[in-house]
Amino acid sequence: MNGRRLRYLITGGAGFIGSHLAEQLADSGCGVTVLDKRIPEAEPDPRVDWLEGDILDESLVGRLVERHDGVFHLAALLGVRRTMAEPAAMVENNLLGTLHVLRAARREGKKVVFASTSEAYGKAEPPFREDMDLLFGPTQKLRWSYAIGKTLEEVLCLGYARKGLPVTVIRYFNVYGPRQKTGAYGGVVAKFILAALRGDDITVYGDGSQTRCFTYVRDAAEGTISAMKREADGQVVNIGSRTEISIRELAEAVKRLTGSSSPIVTVPYGEVFPPGFEEVPRRVPDMAKAESLLGFRPRIPLEAGLGETIAWFRERPRRGSGRL
Ligand SMILES: NC(=O)c1ccc[n+]([C@@H]2O[C@H](COP(=O)([O-])OP(=O)(O)OC[C@H]3O[C@@H](n4cnc5c(N)ncnc54)[C@H](O)[C@@H]3O)[C@@H](O)[C@H]2O)c1
Repeated sequence: MNGRRLRYLITGGAGFIGSHLAEQLADSGCGVTVLDKRIPEAEPDPRVDWLEGDILDESLVGRLVERHDGVFHLAALLGVRRTMAEPAAMVENNLLGTLHVLRAARREGKKVVFASTSEAYGKAEPPFREDMDLLFGPTQKLRWSYAIGKTLEEVLCLGYARKGLPVTVIRYFNVYGPRQKTGAYGGVVAKFILAALRGDDITVYGDGSQTRCFTYVRDAAEGTISAMKREADGQVVNIGSRTEISIRELAEAVKRLTGSSSPIVTVPYGEVFPPGFEEVPRRVPDMAKAESLLGFRPRIPLEAGLGETIAWFRERPRRGSGRL
């Protein structure tokens, strides 16, 4: 590229992971444009070009892809709970948006990194390796709609790879950290921290024995950036951590680290999810491919990451970006 400053487009870059990715790319001296339906009013990074717009606008996506060296495609409606509530909206938004990004990137010869999910493994037996069989329930059980939707987008990416597009699919494993979404469709770490800081019940779904491997958002962003390298073209790669923890242990850790007196309570799945919900009991990535292909190793241990996340949520009301 003749020493020219590289410029990247991040779709969904105003979201949780994308905003960290934008910061980290700007830190490394790259130019960054964020395309998102919703640009935050508070604290947007002045080094980043923020553009309010929709990935469903194909000509806008085309013009933007043309002006950048590569695309991190993160924009999506996401999460099992949300896609159970709005499966058609999820498929329309995500699949069409991904199609627009891939078409434009192929036309312009630009690399794409596509954000998929560990949900794509469904209820397969861990550790989850990128080349293993995926295991879903029936399509009528909308619990699997998010996994199936993302899997279809993966197939679209890999189909475009066969047509010559440089594209890498990354599967994130439970990313957490500052700016994580709370609310009905928020992540479990953010919800636990908020409840602990407010003195509310820390609500564990099921008996809390289900396990996850949480990935600190700065590590996830670093892994995402490493997937832009051409050696990863046409590949699917896990971006996660090896630290497995049960949700009950997570609740206890959050309670201890916040010094909270909140009770930890359990609620049956049937009381919080629509009928047909099925839990994945263990979700653990095999990280060998990320290490060998991308040179990616997560660096932030869970306790340190939880500490930074708790500090951010404690400061949040003072920065005016939300009330506890
Ligand atoms: N957070 C996780 O743990 C996790 C795990 C697995 C996969 N992922 C994937 O990573 C990506 C980013 O997730 P996140 O946690 O940052 O989510 P997020 O909801 O914080 O960010 C997604 C962003 O996409 C934007 N968006 C959605 N539809 C759009 C459209 N039509 N046009 C423009 N912008 C649109 C939203 O406004 C939002 O800012 C998603 O693709 C998600 O499926 C996340």
